[in-house]
Amino acid sequence: MKRTIAIYPGSFDPPTLGHFNIVERALKIFKKVIIAVAENTSKQALFTFEERVGLLKKIYKGSKSVEIDHFHGLLVNYAKKKKAKVILRGLRTVADYEYELQMSFTNKNLFPELETIFLMTENRLSHISSTLIKEIAYFGGACENMVHPQIAESIYQKIQEKHKK
Ligand code: PNS
Repeated sequence: MKRTIAIYPGSFDPPTLGHFNIVERALKIFKKVIIAVAENTSKQALFTFEERVGLLKKIYKGSKSVEIDHFHGLLVNYAKKKKAKVILRGLRTVADYEYELQMSFTNKNLFPELETIFLMTENRLSHISSTLIKEIAYFGGACENMVHPQIAESIYQKIQEKHKK
């Protein structure tokens, strides 16, 4: 597996400590992880596409084994373009399972050579969710223990801008 590239797709709105933990552990298995920021049409985004890519690039600046990228359209087409056969996803709770199972079946149906590999989120991080972080920050709560400090700063700034509008 150490010769394999894995694509880690997601909304990353915002990227959390849970995401970074998955990447860190995946690097013990895969040669390279491509964090691919994608559109999830069913979610309301706080950060623009470019902002999310920018946040991730800052964190992984100088890393040779983590690439930050983005794609529009179907994940299977992006995987084909990158010549990658592995999709990496984190699993937190049973609630994630059904959604993840359906996505992996659908992607396999569209591109049979593609395998989705799941890493269980570490127990201490399994409560962390980008959606809840946005809600906590929106109502003035603290999220420093769920995201990288630089990202917490960007979330607070963004929420302030939203409140001003
Ligand atoms: O972090 P998320 O929001 O759970 O990630 C979901 C994501 C972005 C990986 C998924 O919505 C996706 O793959 N979107 C790209 C469009 C696509 O291929 N849709 C079909 C997936 S079965």
